[in-house]
This record gives sequence, structure tokens and C-alpha cells, in this order.
Amino acid sequence: MKFFVRTYGCQMNVADSNEMSRHLQARGLVETQDPDDASVMLINTCTVRQHAEDRAFSEIGRLKRWKAKKSGRKVVVTGCAAERTKEYLEDRFPFLDLIVGAKSIESFEHMAEQLLDRRATDEELDYAMPAVGDKVAAFVTIMRGCNYSCTYCIVPYVRGREIYHSVERILAEVADRVREGAREITLLGQTVNSYRHGQHRFADLLGAVASSDGVDRVRFISPHPYYMSDRVIETMATVPQICESLHLPVQSGSNAMLKAMARNYTREQYVELVRKMREAMPGMSLSTDIIVGFPGETEEDFQQTLSMIEELQFDWGFIFKYSTREGTPAANFPCHPESLVEERHRRCLELVDRIAFAKRVQLVGTTQDVLVEEDNFGRTRTNHKVHINVNVAPSEVVRVRITGAQRATLEGELQNGNVTFENFRQEDSSGLICP
Ligand code: 5AD
Ligand code: SF4
Repeated sequence: MKFFVRTYGCQMNVADSNEMSRHLQARGLVETQDPDDASVMLINTCTVRQHAEDRAFSEIGRLKRWKAKKSGRKVVVTGCAAERTKEYLEDRFPFLDLIVGAKSIESFEHMAEQLLDRRATDEELDYAMPAVGDKVAAFVTIMRGCNYSCTYCIVPYVRGREIYHSVERILAEVADRVREGAREITLLGQTVNSYRHGQHRFADLLGAVASSDGVDRVRFISPHPYYMSDRVIETMATVPQICESLHLPVQSGSNAMLKAMARNYTREQYVELVRKMREAMPGMSLSTDIIVGFPGETEEDFQQTLSMIEELQFDWGFIFKYSTREGTPAANFPCHPESLVEERHRRCLELVDRIAFAKRVQLVGTTQDVLVEEDNFGRTRTNHKVHINVNVAPSEVVRVRITGAQRATLEGELQNGNVTFENFRQEDSSGLICP
């Protein structure tokens, strides 16, 4: 039996999809990239903005025909939109076989067992595929849920309050991913750096993961500025495996908006945090999330967001048009007209893109360590995507001279002398050739 997974939304959802895939594979199902080939279709949804939810729902609507084409086909809808709109989904799409909300993802294994209607036999388990393999860069979920209540955000409602996995469980998952081929681990959580378990805090966990066998690189996403303690910064700056790159959502450059959003920091505190991090990690990359058109955002507030982008020179950023989420406090605030939100979005995006491009151009001529994820493609420690001029075997770390900057990627040339070319490998399978 084959299954197909479609994932909407954030890395957390990607990690959840991977986890659910592993459960299905452990029962002997095989993942396929072709929906026509599949018997089970799993749609993992997002509800953070209305647009994401609409896209998933229109795909689910189309699955009615897909399901009718072959008997025995099953459709499973999971994730944040499933949590928020379970009854609605049941009414609108009566052909769905299973709905698993984001709060119940950890019970997916059990629920899927009932759906597939029998337990896997020992024999089947013997033939089980290895869990989602060959991922050079893997995600490991360390916590779920969010204890914040940013006034625009639906996440605390659909994912619930924070729960933390134990350090032992996390290290065991890291070891599993390494066994499957991972060299880079990204720790995941909604406010990942608020992690705590017993005596352990986030900085302790970072150190433990970084010193796990086979882990060459560690990243984490998404941190909250409030929990970017000096200890976390120091750990990042001193532990070599932890990459000097951070995605730190700021949302707005206006104190009035940060307050209305209940973000729990001021612009000045955020700027100071960035100064400290850049001092500790020169050359680090910094990216962010920004919401434009939040209710009550004046032109002056918006200008402050633009001036903060100029001041902090983000390496890249995701700019979101405010989207009303029913049930959140901000849903009761009066909204801006769509045209104004569109216009601010365009202006903000232009500025972020212009700075991002200028910063990528500054990297031209530098030499970077690139962890190869696919034949011609890898990432620097600062999380810049690099297109490499020749094929290199995935999972190698190679020295690459940056020769050009595109809109979203860097172009690079393999430095002579330190490498394993694909064809070199064929001649001499002894592996890494030292410089
Ligand atoms: N409208 C627009 N953007 C939102 N985000 C979260 N909720 C909303 C919303 N209601 C953005 C934030 C967050 C990112 C994951 O999505 O910028 O950091
Ligand atoms: Fe949403 Fe705020 Fe929690 Fe992030 S910290 S998930 S934006 S409530």
C-alpha cells in the first residue's frame, strides 16, 4: 500500500508530516510522490493565515474524485486547520476517513492503526521500510504548543500549551536521524528557545545535541526574542557545530504595534539583542518575520518597521499581510482596507529584497563551507542556499568560492583540492579525499 503526503505551512508541519510518514512506513506502507499511485492521501494543513487554509481546503475538495477512482482509497486530513475546523471539515467533506487535529498529532500512530483497520504483524514490521531516509538536513521536534498569546495568532488555540520532550527522547531522535544520513539537525518548536525539561534549559539542550555523534551542524527555529538569553547566545557563539544563523521573528518595528500584538519586547530591546548577537557572532545571518497592516497600524508605525529593516539589515525576511483569525483578540480590532495592506506589503517586500540582495552580493568572493544536500546544491553555515558548479555527493562539506548572487541563491565554484567529485568517487570509493 502506498501513501502520498502533502504538507502546508511551517517547518513544524514538515516535521509532523515526517513523523506521521514514519508511523505509516513502520506499518509497511511505502511513500510515493505520485498521487495516482497512492491508496492513502494525507493532507497536513496550516491555518496561520486564511490563504494557507483556503489552499488546503480546495485541494481536499478535489480529493473526492481522486478517492472515487479506486476502491479502498483513504483520505486523512491533519494539522492546524483540522484542529480549528474539525466539524466544518466533517460536514463539508463527508468522504474524509480520518481527521487528526494538531493537538492530537502525537496520537496519530494509534489513530492511523484504527484507520488501516488492523495491527501490523511482526512479519510486516520486518519488511518495514527504513524511516524517511537520506535527509542530510533533518528536523527534530523538541516542544509543541505555545504559551504566548500574540493577539493575531491562532497557534496557541490549535496547538495548545507548551509541552516539552525529554532530553533523552530528543537525543534518541537525533541519533535516529543521524543513522538515516542526517548531518545537520534543526531543533523545532513554536517558541523553541523557551524549552525546559527538569533542570535542563534550551542552552543545555543545544550543547547536548551539538555534541551528539555524527552531528556537524545544529540550527533551531523559531526562537522568541524574549528567550534569547545571554547563555543561549554564548552557547551559539562558542559551540562550533551551532550555526551562526538565526531566524528571529520581530513582527513590527513600532512599539505601539508590538504592544498591541502582545509581543513582550520593545523595538529597542530587539535592536539591542541583535547588537549583542552580532558582537558575539560576527558574520552571522539574521532573518525575520514581519506582519504588515495589523489593525491600527498607522503610516508612522509602518515607517518605523521600514526604518528598523534599514537599521538591522536583515539577510532575508518573510513579510505577511495581516490575516484575521477568528477567535484571536485582534479579530475584534477594526481592520485596514485590503488595498492599504497590499500596498504596505509591496513596499516592505521591496525594501527587504533590496537589502537581502545587497547582502548576498557582499558574499561574492568569499569562501564558504557548504553542506551539500543535493547534487548541485547546499547551504552555508549562515543558511544561504548555494548552487555549486559541479556535482558533489550529498552530505559532503565542501569549500566553495562564491562567484555570484541570484535573487534567492548564491552561485559558487568548488575550491580545488578538497573534494570528492562524483566521478572521483567512482574511481576510488574510499570516500573523503583530504585537502
Ligand atoms: N496574519 C499574518 N501573519 C501571521 N503570522 C502569524 N499569524 C498571522 C496572522 N494572523 C506570521 C507571523 C509568524 C509567522 C509564522 O506567521 O509573522 O512569525
Ligand atoms: Fe503565535 Fe506568538 Fe506563539 Fe509565535 S509566540 S506561535 S506568533 S502566539
